Amino acid sequence: MVTAAAKAAAEVDGKPATGNRALPRHVAIIMDGNGRWASARGLPRVAGHRAGVQAVRRTIETAASLGVEWLTLYAFSSENWRRPASEVMDLTGLLRHFLKSEIAELKAKGVRLYFIGDRARFEQDIQIDLGLAERETAHNTRLNLVLALSYGARAEIAAAAKAVAEAAKAGTLDPAAFDEAMFAGYLSTTGIPDPDLIIRTSGEQRLSNFLLWQAAYAELLFLDLMWPDFGPEQFEAALAEYARRERRFGARPG
Ligand code: IPE
Ligand code: IPE
Ligand code: MG
Repeated sequence: MVTAAAKAAAEVDGKPATGNRALPRHVAIIMDGNGRWASARGLPRVAGHRAGVQAVRRTIETAASLGVEWLTLYAFSSENWRRPASEVMDLTGLLRHFLKSEIAELKAKGVRLYFIGDRARFEQDIQIDLGLAERETAHNTRLNLVLALSYGARAEIAAAAKAVAEAAKAGTLDPAAFDEAMFAGYLSTTGIPDPDLIIRTSGEQRLSNFLLWQAAYAELLFLDLMWPDFGPEQFEAALAEYARRERRFGARPG
């Protein structure tokens, strides 16, 4: 279902926007600003992360009801392990709780879960729940939800390059026949369409090691609000902005 607002946004003078698929097939979000949201309220950072989880819930619901096919949420970067141990504990604790409390509901809502990133860095019980969540929701088709956890694009690309080199060395891959599509097949996002729209909250204008290969032609949208303040209205406004963009992929403007 597409709401009236999203539909209106996708139209220019009553006609569908041209040169553009009005609704992005894949929206990826860099959920930033939890700490600043909390500080502004005199609260500890963990309160911001908790409020961030609420925003995650809302965003999943909105994506599903607007008809977005793929939603990727950057929840924890490979560099976020460098934060103080207490904050890492708070974040992994929230992840543990989210996996335990949300899976049944996501399953019921028709959401299929995927995880990208270095899951081996998480504690054993979390790794088990990640596998369980993927298996439990594997038949769902309403919304594909990708959580990027302990994810870093450079590590992902380096791991792919290593696997390619090993295959070439073993003689199972012909370097002369190798191309971009084949390389994409070695990334953790194999089978997932490239993001059409990448949103970052918090006002920072950088990718922070997120989907560097896949973002080649994504539309980028940087919002000044903090992640816990992101809701359905902001999501719909982001889709409206996307619908106004003209994507060219390097071809002549038409
Ligand atoms: C985003 O909020 C959550 C994670 C990166 C895990 P931050 O914790 O980065 O909040 P700020 O950017 O310090 O405000
Ligand atoms: C990016 O936010 C990572 C996530 C939102 C998970 P950071 O807060 O880690 O990014 P920097 O440090 O400001 O670049
Ligand atoms: Mg941040």
